[in-house]
Amino acid sequence: MIPVITIDGPSGAGKGTVAQNLADHLGFHLLDSGAVYRAAALHALNCQATIDDESSVMAALESLKATFQPDPDGVKAYLNGRDVTHHLRLETTASAASKVAVMSSVRASLLDEQRSFRQLPGLVADGRDMGTVVFPDASLKVFLSASVEVRALRRAKQLKDKGIETTMASLLQEIGARDERDSSREHSPLVAAHDALIIDSSDLSIRAVVAKIVSALPMLTVAE
Ligand code: C5P
Repeated sequence: MIPVITIDGPSGAGKGTVAQNLADHLGFHLLDSGAVYRAAALHALNCQATIDDESSVMAALESLKATFQPDPDGVKAYLNGRDVTHHLRLETTASAASKVAVMSSVRASLLDEQRSFRQLPGLVADGRDMGTVVFPDASLKVFLSASVEVRALRRAKQLKDKGIETTMASLLQEIGARDERDSSREHSPLVAAHDALIIDSSDLSIRAVVAKIVSALPMLTVAE
């Protein structure tokens, strides 16, 4: 099997940056599964779907054609050939993503797309259910968390760097609501896999988190 390392956790825990650094370190491919959900939600919004109606969202997803390209700032995303990277990063898109992500048919329809990223020499995948549902046979599963305050601060900085203005109060509120939706949903809720390495990144630098993961890596071999 092609090796996979999964990094799951709530938003703002540092998954994206850690996953990217780890993928660079190992020379592996990268799956930002949040971008897959965000692209699906953005497409549904663009199609004027009712975002909390499963059949309306599923009808819109029939014409979804999303492609992703590696980029030093995270992935670049295209919807039917149009660059939507900026729109993907907006909190309004994240919020819509967490609404469509509660729908089992939406989750099922995005599974193959996510699994198709598993290519030689290996994959680092970040999200909410990478270790529990999408790649249950991963070589190493990490669950990365941090306090909600630290996560909101990090998200504020990330958005500012991308030229997106926001306030701490609205971020705390949005992140709290998203955490609640992601953790309490029926299908693929945000939980640590029973065999995950749990890391609290509140007081750790990205470099320290990556070092912890690298030191926990098993021998990665490609088996038949
Ligand atoms: O990770 P990111 O913040 O980009 O994800 C946006 C939303 O997509 C999350 O809040 C979550 O609801 C959903 N998601 C998911 N499963 C994943 C990745 C993201 O449900 N594997």
